[in-house]
Amino acid sequence: MLDKINSLIEEVKAFDAQTLEEAEAFRVKMLSKKGAIPALFHDFKTVAPEERKEMGKKLNELKQAATDKVNTVKARIEASEGKLKQSADKPDMTMPVNFDPVGTRHPLSVIRNRINSIFQRIGFVISEGPEIEDDWHNFSALNFPEEHPARDMQDTFFVEKSPDIALRTHTSSVQVRVMESQQPPIRTISPGRVFRNEAISARAHCIFHQVEGLYIDEAVSFADMKQTLLHFAREMFGEGTDIRLRPSFFPFTEPSAEMDVSCTLCGGEGCTVCKYSGWLEIMGCGMVDPNVLENCGIDSKKYTGYAFGMGIERIAMIIYQIRDLRMFFENDLRFLKQFEAAT
Ligand code: PHE
Repeated sequence: MLDKINSLIEEVKAFDAQTLEEAEAFRVKMLSKKGAIPALFHDFKTVAPEERKEMGKKLNELKQAATDKVNTVKARIEASEGKLKQSADKPDMTMPVNFDPVGTRHPLSVIRNRINSIFQRIGFVISEGPEIEDDWHNFSALNFPEEHPARDMQDTFFVEKSPDIALRTHTSSVQVRVMESQQPPIRTISPGRVFRNEAISARAHCIFHQVEGLYIDEAVSFADMKQTLLHFAREMFGEGTDIRLRPSFFPFTEPSAEMDVSCTLCGGEGCTVCKYSGWLEIMGCGMVDPNVLENCGIDSKKYTGYAFGMGIERIAMIIYQIRDLRMFFENDLRFLKQFEAAT
């Protein structure tokens, strides 16, 4: 009988239930009139007098353990069912608040959107194209003669085993695609990622972003370009901004120029940012070379146009006074969080 009691005590200890029905079935099996424990109490009458004391103690222990177990298991199940019901009825106002982390726009996206919208407001449309380009769209159509050193100006990443396929070095390639597929008037800007095989430093990276623009129509002049770019500079950097154009060279424009804006920090007085020149270089521009128009199926006798191109990183560095271009590519939250308020 002692063995039987001990094995029931073990069974009670090990028992657990997930539903009230299971707990009740256990109670019936152990404690009801016809259950195992009352049966033992019945047998107790036959126990020899000298064993009664110890046996009675054990038997009472078993009864108490079984009763406690059934009660605690039932109480736990009832409590959790009740909680479920409560949370379905109404929200628990005492719950601590969890703030979901909110992402912010990357500074390059912020500046790209601003550049885009300045030009969109004066009638330019956005065009996009592939990042992997053929030689024709990146170079040949743009009047880069084969084997010409001008191609070295833009250190190119070629795609393995195909010398004619490369990562685009500028988004002028997109403008070739636009000119090939539609006739003037054309007013388009091409934002996008470009690639050049340059050593990475605070001022250069092998990936950067550009916005290039193209305007083609009858009788478009250099003066039209200058006025449009002045408008852009003032919208981007502020009302008091001045521009200057310096002669330059690009294979696809003639004449070509580099455009500077008056230094946004010192207003032209001279400071460390503009290296005491009063000016910051921000883009290349020029009148589209007639060869480029002809290459793309546009009549160069009838139409003229201008083009320009700028690096988004460069503009963002000026506006936010960022000294190291690599910051844009590191995704360091301490850097990115500083642009939370920018839209
Ligand atoms: N495509 C030139 C570059 O990537 C920029 C440019 C565009 C210059 C249009 C002149 C005209 O450097």
